[in-house]
Amino acid sequence: MKFKKYIFLSFALFLTLSLHARQTNWVEVEPGIWKAVIGKPEPYNLLTASGVGPYHEGLTKLKPAEFPLSKNEITAKIIDGKTYLRFPLDRGEQLYGFGLNFKTVNQRGRILELHVDHYNGSDNGRTHSPTPFYVSSKGYGIFINSARYLKVYAGAAVRRDSKNPPVVQDRNTDPDWNPHPYSDGVEILVPAEGVEFYVIGGPTAMNAVQRFNLFNGGGCLPPRWGLGFTQRLERMTDASGVAAEAKAFEDKGYPLDFIGLEPGWQSKSYPNTFEWDAKRFPEPEKLVKEMLHKNIRLNLWINPYVSPDAPIYKKILPYTASHTVWAGLVPDLKTDSARKFLFGTLEKNKIDIGISGYKIDEVDGGDSYLWPDLATFPSGIPAEQMRQTYGLLMQRYTTELYQKRNLRTYGLVRASNAGGVSFPYVIYNDYYNHQDFITALINSGFSGVLWTPEVRASNLPEEWVRRFQSNVFSPMAMINAWASGTKPWTFPEVAPIIKRFALLRMQMMPYWYSEFARYHFEGIPPFRAMNLEPGFQDLVSVKEAKNLNLEENPYAKAITSEIKDQYMAGENLLVAPMFTGQKSRKVILPAGKWFDFYTGKYAGGGEVINITPGLDQIPVYVKDGGIIPMGKPLLHAPKAGEKVDLEIRYYGTKPGEYKLYDDDGETFNYQKGDYSFRTIKVSKVNGKLLGSISKAEKNKPNSVGKITYKMMTL
Ligand code: GAL
Repeated sequence: MKFKKYIFLSFALFLTLSLHARQTNWVEVEPGIWKAVIGKPEPYNLLTASGVGPYHEGLTKLKPAEFPLSKNEITAKIIDGKTYLRFPLDRGEQLYGFGLNFKTVNQRGRILELHVDHYNGSDNGRTHSPTPFYVSSKGYGIFINSARYLKVYAGAAVRRDSKNPPVVQDRNTDPDWNPHPYSDGVEILVPAEGVEFYVIGGPTAMNAVQRFNLFNGGGCLPPRWGLGFTQRLERMTDASGVAAEAKAFEDKGYPLDFIGLEPGWQSKSYPNTFEWDAKRFPEPEKLVKEMLHKNIRLNLWINPYVSPDAPIYKKILPYTASHTVWAGLVPDLKTDSARKFLFGTLEKNKIDIGISGYKIDEVDGGDSYLWPDLATFPSGIPAEQMRQTYGLLMQRYTTELYQKRNLRTYGLVRASNAGGVSFPYVIYNDYYNHQDFITALINSGFSGVLWTPEVRASNLPEEWVRRFQSNVFSPMAMINAWASGTKPWTFPEVAPIIKRFALLRMQMMPYWYSEFARYHFEGIPPFRAMNLEPGFQDLVSVKEAKNLNLEENPYAKAITSEIKDQYMAGENLLVAPMFTGQKSRKVILPAGKWFDFYTGKYAGGGEVINITPGLDQIPVYVKDGGIIPMGKPLLHAPKAGEKVDLEIRYYGTKPGEYKLYDDDGETFNYQKGDYSFRTIKVSKVNGKLLGSISKAEKNKPNSVGKITYKMMTL
């Protein structure tokens, strides 16, 4: 009898240990960031793939955070070789993130499979950066450090033993019967026998995003020229075409900082030789030098798949995957040798001669192009993990090529993931829906990536203008004319508007540059959702929104549906793009006063305004007390050491303060302290607005010339 009881007790204990929540041990690894480990995490994960550590100094500057959840409501268990994670969810809580989504901002209620892929029209987790990180409107974040395909039930699954079970409804009689009963948890299935995961404190959603970004090294700081204007040329353009393009921009007075060469720069592509085509580009070094002399850099398109005609083919062959892509070898970037040959060829006669960066294409998907999940790699890294991290690896090792030269780069990539926050790359794709591009821009801020709503071609001049205007208020102002050959002046009837916006991009460089510095030092994404704005945050976290009338409570929309057509650009600007065919639109202005960017006039505050802007304007609003430092409408970004006059614009009525960032704009010396933030202040003294700026710091780069103030609101 006793024996039986003993067996029963041991069995019960075994069940408790294996099936039920294991008590997770939380360790605060950085201020406000707690890590837990369940089972045996795989050694290869998103953080090891990116190889970037936390930016500790930035993290210590944030206000301390409390552990934001109740620890015993977080459960982790391993069943059948897989890890089951569960995190609690409150009523009224909204979730954002889970990567670069294109159609939705609110993720509560969704089921996703996080899988690196080309975005194919629905938010199902397959996207260019399926970052396994989410932020709650309650002000915390969760990050799962796994390079597997994760299945996420973001408030979509209901447990029998739920603390807050849904109300049972009778469909026969209840007209409000809900096919999606209330769920009080986020459940994530990790197909591995263990994982490390993180709880990230707030107290605000913005603070959680900042911590996540800083934990991944802080946001990237592009070189100044990266924030200028870029045009990608038609696929088969040759050296004389490049020179002609540069000249046309100059003659017509359009800004241009870097030109992108598409697959035709190579002797063969898809798969690639990574060698200049001798006919189209007989003297690449001469061309690059001539362009640099004009202050124009060159960026090269690549995908990583190696042609049998590539000089590195034989050498790299043993270090490549079992399967090919477009008949090209897939380098195993986790082997030193593959890296040596691939990145060696990207240096030789390219970076060595002044190529400023790469566009890393087709490391995302789709399934019918890339290596299958059953491909094998010599390093032993499973194909699934390679798929989730290949974009990260390409970014990491190309960035290193520039780091060792102490030169910054700014490029394009089609896949990323958590861990890639600090890499100087912007995501783009072949999808071309203007509205969805804006939603992606909003979501990029929750996912530690940058996104460009690139302009390729248009059917109508109106569409050309509308797309171009959004592009100017984004991380990379780019026309990607690889197929269409379109130029900024292609539609003569709207060319003056296009030129004005291209030059506005250049004028705003001191603002963009300072905002990227905040991304780097403070983790604040330069382009982000309204939901991260204080006014919204507070109201969204209110348990039940009482007044859901949009006219009376502008935030109701953020609670009940979502705001995916307006966003914050930097500290002070709210951008509300117009789409083709639209003559008017609503803009939700958060609490406080907001002012028109172009005129300085009061536009509203804590309300929904209806506007009818002409084609010559993209609606942009400035926060009360907002300061926008503007430079000159230059045709090229200023070089290291070059001084540019500054026009400090001030909007509104409240005293304003702004931190203007400065460094040499080209090297990594800022990482050694070679930078400064100067404080600009505007306030009323004896009824008159007065502006001031703190002195330039001694022995620090100083790019500020003559300073004038423009009080926009009179
Ligand atoms: C696509 C890419 C385009 C263009 C093209 C060249 O995959 O998204 O932007 O570079 O390849 O073949």
